[in-house]
Amino acid sequence: MRVLVTGVKGQLGYDIVRVCQEEGIEAIGVDIEEMDITDCEAVAKVIGQSGADAVIHCSAYTAVDKAEEDIDTCNKVNVEGTRNIALVCRELNIKMMYFSTDYVFDGQGEKPWQVDDAPSPINVYGQSKYLGEQEVRNLVKEHFIIRISWVFGINGNNFVKTMLRLGNERDELNVVDDQIGAPTYTYDLARLAVAMIQSDKYGTYHVTNEGDTSWYEFAKEIFFQAGVEVKVNPVSSSEFKSAAKRPSNSKMDKSRLDEAGFGRLPSWQDALKRYLVELQ
Ligand SMILES: NC(=O)c1ccc[n+]([C@@H]2O[C@H](COP(=O)([O-])OP(=O)(O)OC[C@H]3O[C@@H](n4cnc5c(N)ncnc54)[C@H](OP(=O)(O)O)[C@@H]3O)[C@@H](O)[C@H]2O)c1
Repeated sequence: MRVLVTGVKGQLGYDIVRVCQEEGIEAIGVDIEEMDITDCEAVAKVIGQSGADAVIHCSAYTAVDKAEEDIDTCNKVNVEGTRNIALVCRELNIKMMYFSTDYVFDGQGEKPWQVDDAPSPINVYGQSKYLGEQEVRNLVKEHFIIRISWVFGINGNNFVKTMLRLGNERDELNVVDDQIGAPTYTYDLARLAVAMIQSDKYGTYHVTNEGDTSWYEFAKEIFFQAGVEVKVNPVSSSEFKSAAKRPSNSKMDKSRLDEAGFGRLPSWQDALKRYLVELQ
């Protein structure tokens, strides 16, 4: 099998290509220099010439706060860019995998979100990712849509790296404790995604590492595992101002993975442990 992977310079795209190499699957990684996804002619040309059997689409506009002001760019990349890829996958009759987010949900209530719950995004980024999902659903029959959350990987910036940097600069940190969700290690996700793309178990899935936590608890575990001494104070979202609203309840039900016969990912604490080793 040959796959074309977008966003290879980002966190997830990097690990998808790495896992493909480990598994002996031919992967062609591209980023904006090789294929600007907002340029439909470039998208048709690059995917067409690649001879790929599938596109694993990891590139996106991911600056959640900036998106609140930069609405057009966010939509151009996440909606139009995704549509451009979906149109070519339909034309060539090849599989497409798209990554979405817990931010498609509004975060109300306590129950984990089911795959079929109605999305109701509360920020620009979440809305754009949901519209991107719809493009994929409507255009490509053989599609996978994978909603993930709180991503960390070796190649790029994320919460773990930010905490480690701040922990070395400061004695005390405030971290929000009223948003509950689950971290997702890109290497673990990539292993599952590469297994999925080789299957015909199409549809929408929720995937994260196992176990729920708050950003505050996540931060404390990062410092504990890294052996960094820093005082972490729990604060509410209202005390921690950000441009984009974030859902309080981001817990996602992953039973569709069981139904399809895919294994769950390891716990987020286990993933963090392996990630910290990888960072060294
Ligand atoms: N990060 C998270 O916490 C999170 C949570 C839930 C879902 N997701 C989703 O998971 C997927 C992977 O996320 P990630 O964290 O790996 O993202 P990332 O690290 O931000 O990587 C995205 C890549 O896409 C590139 N890109 C931006 N605009 C492009 C364009 N017009 N054409 C081609 N490439 C372009 C970016 O380049 P530049 O860096 O130059 O812009 C970057 O290399 C995305 O679909 C994201 O929405 C992420």
